Amino acid sequence: MIKISPSMLSADASRLGEGLEMLERCGADWAHIDVMDGVFVPNITIGQHVVKHLRPVSDIPFDVHLMIVNPIKHVPDFLDAGSDMITLHVETTEGVEDALQMIKDGGAKAGLSLNPGTPLQEILPYLDILDLVLVMSVQPGFGGQKFQEHCLDKISELSGIAQVRKIDLEISVDGGVNRETGRRSAEAGATVLAAGSSLFGAQDMAEEIKLWKGFATKVD
Ligand code: DX5
Ligand code: ZN
Repeated sequence: MIKISPSMLSADASRLGEGLEMLERCGADWAHIDVMDGVFVPNITIGQHVVKHLRPVSDIPFDVHLMIVNPIKHVPDFLDAGSDMITLHVETTEGVEDALQMIKDGGAKAGLSLNPGTPLQEILPYLDILDLVLVMSVQPGFGGQKFQEHCLDKISELSGIAQVRKIDLEISVDGGVNRETGRRSAEAGATVLAAGSSLFGAQDMAEEIKLWKGFATKVD
């Protein structure tokens, strides 16, 4: 069954703990936490300090998405803060492989993300050490953007490669995911839907998550 990872970026930032409790109560599988540094992306969001303070609020796995340069410098802090999965971007200039290994050595799951304009080939050399690939379907930096359709082809190609190579890989899609684009991503091979505005903006988040969990997936 598809996993749902609501993005805390769309929660009320003055009450993040309550937002976390709510998504857990509504049946989310993971909590997606967007970390932006104002350098890799134009925006600045939250850092390890906030992640650490959110950790005791809930047992839900923390799916931490690092949109930062030089991730290797910060991985130890995010491990220490209680991250269950840490995803960095392949476009970051240095140390991708070392940072992924550091995440695994620290006992968390390692993920790699790619921007909409980055070819899938860029992440393939790392496939054997990855637990998760996060396919960005918007240019990272802001919530509430429109899903870029061509990313469905990337999901489908990656899912095919993982099946052929018998790799146990989560394929997450992030950006502009709603009922329609989420259903189509699941059919293309996504195993995780990360979504902010369409879940936190839903009239009833629990009903919305229930509906999304009913999407047919390529891997079922
Ligand atoms: C975008 C972030 C996303 C964002 C998704 O840079 O990585 O996780 O919160 O928000 P929506 O679902 O509103 O596009
Ligand atoms: Zn994200």
